Amino acid sequence: MAHGSAREPEVTHGQPIPVIIDCDTGVDDALALLFAVRHPAIDLRAVTCVAGNTDVDGVVRNTLTVLEQAGAPEIPVARGAERPLIEPPRSARHVHGHDGMGDLGLPAPRRTPAGVDAVTLLRREILASPRPVTLVPTAPLTNIALLLRTHPEVTRNIERIVFMGGAAGAGNASPVAEFNVWHDPEAAAILLTAGVPITMYGLDVFTRVVVPGADVRRLRAAEEPGARLAGELLAHRPAAPGSRPDDPEEDAGGLGDAGAVCAVVDPEGLVTHRLPVEVSLAPGPTRGQTVVDRRARIGEAELHEGRREQPLVDVALDVDVERYVKLYLGAVEGTGAASRTG
Ligand code: BDR
Ligand code: CA
Repeated sequence: MAHGSAREPEVTHGQPIPVIIDCDTGVDDALALLFAVRHPAIDLRAVTCVAGNTDVDGVVRNTLTVLEQAGAPEIPVARGAERPLIEPPRSARHVHGHDGMGDLGLPAPRRTPAGVDAVTLLRREILASPRPVTLVPTAPLTNIALLLRTHPEVTRNIERIVFMGGAAGAGNASPVAEFNVWHDPEAAAILLTAGVPITMYGLDVFTRVVVPGADVRRLRAAEEPGARLAGELLAHRPAAPGSRPDDPEEDAGGLGDAGAVCAVVDPEGLVTHRLPVEVSLAPGPTRGQTVVDRRARIGEAELHEGRREQPLVDVALDVDVERYVKLYLGAVEGTGAASRTG
């Protein structure tokens, strides 16, 4: 199904893929963490936190709580940037709840974050990994931009960056800009020029991977806390447009950021095109837009003004929804060994 270049096998030499997630937990970031700690093809080496859906201290608290509920309390977690490089912080609590994670009344975490900041932990874990790391930002790109500018040598041990952000089509934070890029456009622009292979898991696929209501109800009734938490989080995700109270799909919930982690395990479930992508940094209505050049040939702009250097990115334009839902449920409900593809 897929074409483009994001075709690495999900398990290299029989070993799980070393992964680091940078997140703003966040209802769907929590879904992503649950999947990452439970899928056998992923070796989650660290999680770093950044301001986005809520303030960074709330993100740290939510992240630690999710890892404890998932039965993975030992994974190092670090606190990162409190605000974007230039913009003020602008939360998404109207989507993610007052606590940033659905106001589910979860217990406070028992442990505290690592004694180092996110950039330091990222550098340490990337360079210490025996095999190149796949970095998965599911949040504004502030930590990643700071990392790339402070320790550019990390790129030598990064296999690929698979980030949730941007859109080739419509935006959500603005008509054309997706929240993670809109929140810190300069940071996103730095990420795109990192000089490593990049997959953009943007809104074009992000909004499409929805878990059916019956599966969400089964998860919510699970005895195992991690699976039950996944059900509660999915139930908090916006219902499908047009659903009614008596609609059996009323409980359906989008995987959101978790789809980007599915794409690490199973890149064949995506259709990607390698395309020039640029972040609009101009003030005004296009700020934060990821301008994806899908033209078959150059136009008058290039003919009259010359070509500009633009990073090439593997942009996800289509996704096998059923495949990712099955992959997700298999891992989170503990039947994951069978869902290890390839
Ligand atoms: C992104 O914004 C956040 O609200 C979600 O967690 C996701 O990362 C979608 O635009
Ligand atoms: Ca997020």
